[in-house]
Amino acid sequence: MKEVIMIVRPEKLEVIKSILDELNCGGMTLSTVMGCGTQKGVVEEAGVNQIKGYKTTINLLPKVQISIVVPDDKVEKIISDVRMKVADGRVGDGKIFIRNMEDAMRIRTGERGNKAL
Ligand SMILES: Nc1ncnc2c1ncn2[C@@H]1O[C@H](COP(=O)(O)OP(=O)(O)OP(=O)(O)O)[C@@H](O)[C@H]1O
Ligand SMILES: [Mg+2]
Repeated sequence: MKEVIMIVRPEKLEVIKSILDELNCGGMTLSTVMGCGTQKGVVEEAGVNQIKGYKTTINLLPKVQISIVVPDDKVEKIISDVRMKVADGRVGDGKIFIRNMEDAMRIRTGERGNKAL
């Protein structure tokens, strides 16, 4: 099993939900987060932001973080579909992290591993 963590612009949530629905992914967890990547959240021309009189070089922008746990063999299809439908070709399009998930259990039935997804 793998956990796939997708951090994208909030307006991309619906398209990701429809991809996950089409690919029959079991469940998902959504968090609203603040984040920045390599541009440090700078969206204006100026390289330095001014917030309430304080100079800051890092600006955090609102993002959504979608976490799913899926069987290993689903990962590549999910991330390629997400990239195809979410990429605008602009900075800040988002990022996907993938990590191993050791085990899972469905509390209602006691099923373990892939069966619990
Ligand atoms: N190295 C990282 N560690 C943790 N979170 C990250 C990292 N890189 C990106 N993120 C998260 O992903 C979001 C989207 O990142 P973003 O798409 O701007 O990445 P990037 O590496 O700057 O790529 P690009 O140059 O295309 O903008 C960030 O707002 C942040 O929440
Ligand atoms: Mg960026």
